[in-house]
Formats: sequence, structure tokens, C-alpha cells
Amino acid sequence: MKPASLLAYPAAIACLVLAASAVPRPLESIIESFNLLSQQSPLGKHNPFINIMPPAGEVSTGVIISDVIGKTQTIAIFSGLTRDIDLVSDRLDDAAKNATVLAPDNGVMRNLKRKPWEDQDDYDSFGANAYDGDAGEDRAHKNLRRFVESHIVPESPWAEGQKVKTLAGNEVWYETKDGKKMIQPGDVEVTSIADKVSNGEIWIISGSLA
Ligand SMILES: *[C@@H]1O[C@H](CO)[C@@H](O)[C@H](O)[C@H]1NC(C)=O
Repeated sequence: MKPASLLAYPAAIACLVLAASAVPRPLESIIESFNLLSQQSPLGKHNPFINIMPPAGEVSTGVIISDVIGKTQTIAIFSGLTRDIDLVSDRLDDAAKNATVLAPDNGVMRNLKRKPWEDQDDYDSFGANAYDGDAGEDRAHKNLRRFVESHIVPESPWAEGQKVKTLAGNEVWYETKDGKKMIQPGDVEVTSIADKVSNGEIWIISGSLA
């Protein structure tokens, strides 16, 4: 296309610019680091929280979720993805907005039926190359965003039984069964609380909510 004909389509150019700015990191590099992290052998049996977990119930003041989410090895795959979604990374970096992050552990992320950027509907509609090209990349980013957002509860403290919509819009709550917090719907167990900081908490969960 000649420059002159491009100028005849300012709307098309605006769309290209918007599409480009909505893509924070090329899909290829997201997939690459996801796969890299997924291949790493599981960590040893030692407790990786020992150095960073505050004494039970204590809140680290002045520290926010974005400061600590990258430090817990057992959720490295999920926390890596949170940085690729602007809305989520901005929120976790905002001291004035609380959140409870429900972070699936690395084992859950490795064993997902589909990668977080995949959706069976896309394969049904577009076939095996559903994520090729610019349109494919947009689809993948949309799915990835929905996956990550469905694990962010925009409330903290979050009370037992309180139904809340995640950033993706799915409604969740939790109940205590046999002393364990279970996220509902789906009975997904909260295995530990990795961090309590001034704008919320990071809970590690043994399943995925999307
Ligand atoms: C945000 O979280 C902090 C720390 O738990 C809490 O003291 C504060 O009341 C919360 N703010 C809101 C609006 O929920």
C-alpha cells in the first residue's frame, strides 16, 4: 500500500495503532516464557515461603501486591502472566485498590487442559491455526486476559460467604470445610496464604477457576 493510500484511511491507521498499543508483549514471548517456566522441574520439598511470609495475620505495611507476587516460586507461572495484562498489573500496583489474588500453583498451570490463551471455541471456529496472524494474536490475548482476570477478586479483606465478581465477571465466594478454605463454585482448595500486604492478599490455590 502506498503512503498516499494509507492517508486516505485514517481510521484504519488509528485501528492499527490501537491494536498495537493493546498488545503489551508479543504472544510469542509470552508463550516462550510460559513453556520455559512449565518445563522447570518442580521445586524441592523445602518451604519456599519461609523467608517472605509474615507471621500469621500480620500485614506488611507499605508493601503492595506487585512488590511481592513475583517472589513466590510456587506461583511463578501464574504471576508471570499477571504482568502481561495491563489492567491486572496496574491494579496490583495500585496501593489504593485492594485485591485478593487467587493464584493457581505451578502444578495447576502445567496441567491445564488448555493453555491459558487457548479456547476450544476458537479452535472450533478457526481451526488448528486459530492463533496465527494478528487476529489470532488478539484472540489469544483476550483469552489470556480472561484467564488471569478470573483469578483476581477486587476485594480484601474478603469475608467468608461473600459473593464477589472477579475482574473477569465470574462470581466466586469461599466456605471453610474441615478447616480449609474452599473457593466456590468448584471446591478449589486454598492451600496457603503467600502474602498479606497493604493492598490485599495472595492466596495459593490448587485448581484453576477458568
Ligand atoms: C485494604 O486492605 C487493608 C489491609 O488489609 C485494610 O486495612 C483496608 O481496610 C482495606 N481497604 C478496603 C477499602 O477494603
